[in-house]
Amino acid sequence: MTSSYSSLFESFQLKSGVELKNRFVMAPMTNCSSNEDGTVSSAELAYYARRCQGVSMVITANTYVTPNGKGFPGQFSGDSDAMIPSLRSLAQTIQAQGAKAVLQICHNGRHCPPSLVPNGDIVSASEVASNQDQVGGASPRALTEIEVEEIISAFGETTRRAIEAGCDGVEIHGANGYLIQQFFSPHTNLRNDKWGGSLEKRMAFPLAIVDEVKRVVVAHAREPFIVGYRFSPEEDTTPGITMVETFALVDALADKDLDYLHISLNDFRSLPRRGADESRTRVEWIQERINGRVPLIGVGSIRTADDARDALQLGLPLIAIGRELIIDPDWVQKVKENRLSEISTVISKQDQAKLVIPDPLWNLIRNRTGWFPVAEETASK
Ligand SMILES: Cc1cc2nc3c(=O)[nH]c(=O)nc-3n(C[C@H](O)[C@H](O)[C@H](O)COP(=O)(O)O)c2cc1C
Repeated sequence: MTSSYSSLFESFQLKSGVELKNRFVMAPMTNCSSNEDGTVSSAELAYYARRCQGVSMVITANTYVTPNGKGFPGQFSGDSDAMIPSLRSLAQTIQAQGAKAVLQICHNGRHCPPSLVPNGDIVSASEVASNQDQVGGASPRALTEIEVEEIISAFGETTRRAIEAGCDGVEIHGANGYLIQQFFSPHTNLRNDKWGGSLEKRMAFPLAIVDEVKRVVVAHAREPFIVGYRFSPEEDTTPGITMVETFALVDALADKDLDYLHISLNDFRSLPRRGADESRTRVEWIQERINGRVPLIGVGSIRTADDARDALQLGLPLIAIGRELIIDPDWVQKVKENRLSEISTVISKQDQAKLVIPDPLWNLIRNRTGWFPVAEETASK
């Protein structure tokens, strides 16, 4: 290992007591490859087994906590005790490769397609968004106060299932525009009850979920259990989440005794849009706000060993890698062994079997132009 990268391979202790063997985390990535009944498929298990040997922790694809939170075909379920064996097989597959298994728990809210939720009943913080947009051609209805409480409990129940399944932790998915973010955002939360109306009230749902998940961990976990929270720092709508609002959320989350916060970005070097100036990256602004209270995981377009080292030098203790681990499942080992010239940063048509990528994920990669860097020979196909 060259000395310039050795800091990436130092261990890291989380607050709960879990020790991570290095600074690399596999980013949560939905693969749409689960079975019809919501269980994890063998193709999915093979996909994880192939690419999680090097990282210290895998954050799984997001699992839905209630039937009306399913946002993707082929998404796996965490909404009933019948799913515990499925969650256990996922955890054991990841742990067999030497990584911690953290289940990402989610409700997709207004982003759920009507065809995937019972009776096509799509729910969100509010019926409409402030600029009346629609997602997927259908309008959600606003959750009642009782239903809001039920969803908070469901996050706790899925956490209990994760504990019983032997997972090492859960990550609360408060990012990427899904239900938790829909409550935090002034764009999608137009409520006037205790769950909306002011910045403080828009934070109530995310914070209540954190409290419930932590309560369940104290009640049920017999070993140290990781609890993390993922957030998106900004939205491009007006009104929408700005850095100023995110600072307030991060302030509140940093005092919740979480193991980590996880910023969701496409590029870890990205600059703020609103609410903070461009003299620093979003990651640096957030790190300043956190002020050492909780570790931050950074993510976004880390493809080379130098990218990873640069991310660490921005002050990030942990970095998540997403697409690059799909493109090159041996990426971490290659960095560790200084085999840098062997790292692939593009995907090619012939690679599916070699990379152990299930068909639905492969089709997503092939059909969404610009999402994955494609090798020249297939770029035109
Ligand atoms: C195929 C795919 C699926 C994703 N699914 C999720 C998800 O389930 N949960 C989540 O928080 N982020 C999801 N993301 C975002 C990634 O976690 C990550 O933030 C993003 O890909 C940027 O990191 P990268 O440049 O290393 O890929 C997904 C990204 C991709 C490419």
